[in-house]
Amino acid sequence: AIDPNFDQNREVVDEHQGHDVWGPVEEPEKLGVHGTHVAVDFDICDADGVCVEDCPVDVFEWVETPGHPTSEKKADPANEAQCIDCMLCVDVCPVDAIDVDST
Ligand code: SF4
Ligand code: F3S
Ligand code: ZN
Repeated sequence: AIDPNFDQNREVVDEHQGHDVWGPVEEPEKLGVHGTHVAVDFDICDADGVCVEDCPVDVFEWVETPGHPTSEKKADPANEAQCIDCMLCVDVCPVDAIDVDST
């Protein structure tokens, strides 16, 4: 599961689609955590897709990640600013790859 304290235990190493990327990143095998308010651990996401389908405000967009050992696409929190903290994605992701900081 994603580390809920990723923002203390990792460092921002990059920016993507207007959100932070928390390292370590060693492409293509290690991709880190994307986003801060809505955070997805790309190294855990296995492209299940229920978050992309069910988020009521379409926070997530697919990004291609060829060569990653877990899956070759990831749910990117491209529109994290639109999140309404419903926590649905956190509840439904089968591999617990998502953390939403609702506090
Ligand atoms: Fe979307 Fe709700 Fe998840 Fe926010 S908490 S990203 S609104 S499903
Ligand atoms: Fe990935 Fe979980 Fe969404 S596996 S695609 S973050 S439901
Ligand atoms: Zn991203």
